[in-house]
Amino acid sequence: MFVWSKMSPVSKQSILEERFLGLAQTNAVITELPGKKRFRIEVYCDDKNDGQNLLNEFGGQLSKLKIKDWVKLNASSKRPPIKIRDRLIITDTDDPKEIKKICDRFEGRDVISIPAALAFGTGDHETTSTCLRLLVDLAKEHNKNNKEWSLCDIGTGTGILAIAAKILGSKMVDCFDFDSTAISIAKRNISRNQTSGIFIYEADLFEWEPKKKKCWDIITANIFANVLNANLSKIFNALAPGGNLILSGILREHENSVIESAQKTSLTNPIIYRKGKWVSMHYHKD
Ligand SMILES: C[S@@+](CC[C@H](N)C(=O)[O-])C[C@H]1O[C@@H](n2cnc3c(N)ncnc32)[C@H](O)[C@@H]1O
Repeated sequence: MFVWSKMSPVSKQSILEERFLGLAQTNAVITELPGKKRFRIEVYCDDKNDGQNLLNEFGGQLSKLKIKDWVKLNASSKRPPIKIRDRLIITDTDDPKEIKKICDRFEGRDVISIPAALAFGTGDHETTSTCLRLLVDLAKEHNKNNKEWSLCDIGTGTGILAIAAKILGSKMVDCFDFDSTAISIAKRNISRNQTSGIFIYEADLFEWEPKKKKCWDIITANIFANVLNANLSKIFNALAPGGNLILSGILREHENSVIESAQKTSLTNPIIYRKGKWVSMHYHKD
């Protein structure tokens, strides 16, 4: 494993985020340094040539990641637990003693453990946390009416939304991603959080065909706008009548294009949530 890293001015952050936290690149980590005008970007590469290409294109440094560092990266808890409404706590620790402490401290909430890894979805990104909050609200509504509900998470990354859905009471949870590393990490997280019964598989949304005309009550898709726009009609067909669609990961400048694509499938009047440069949308299918 090799790691390419570079310090950059904050003014370049959105460009680099878009370049590296987008579609195929789930192996990038951006670290903001409080009070500093610069941030660090690291991209983890299996192949030295990929790192070398980044070095040639952007400058910075390339180094070999020692196994010791890799273990440390996964083992140490670096950030405080994230609270999602009064229902969930997301922690990056996987130490059972630490998790027990967090459970005791936040009694009455379910704790989800998602250690830092080379997949997107640790809960601290606006696009994920908005999806989690919406999920908590929708689950509350379904559970209040004693209604069984199902969910499909498109582009699952670490599996965080699928795991949350299972914990929140979804009877049938499906999720997929086109990145095999994300799938292995999500499987590990599903097992760590004891949320068995989630159907997880590797697939590209562009080629995805839901089996046997399956429909879901909730679909979540935290993916870039261009991927959403090209696949919205397929997603719409996979949504049960009366179902809810949560779209996230949309940059503000792409907001209108997603609304237009949704209109073509007859999805209208989204509730829109804007956080920084990110937009999430909640649609209801009549
Ligand atoms: C922004 S992350 C979202 C991860 C997680 N669902 C969350 O909300 O934090 C987007 C994920 O979508 C996956 N992805 C991007 N394009 C895809 C496609 N065409 N088919 C399937 N997965 C895709 C990426 O690999 C990545 O894991």
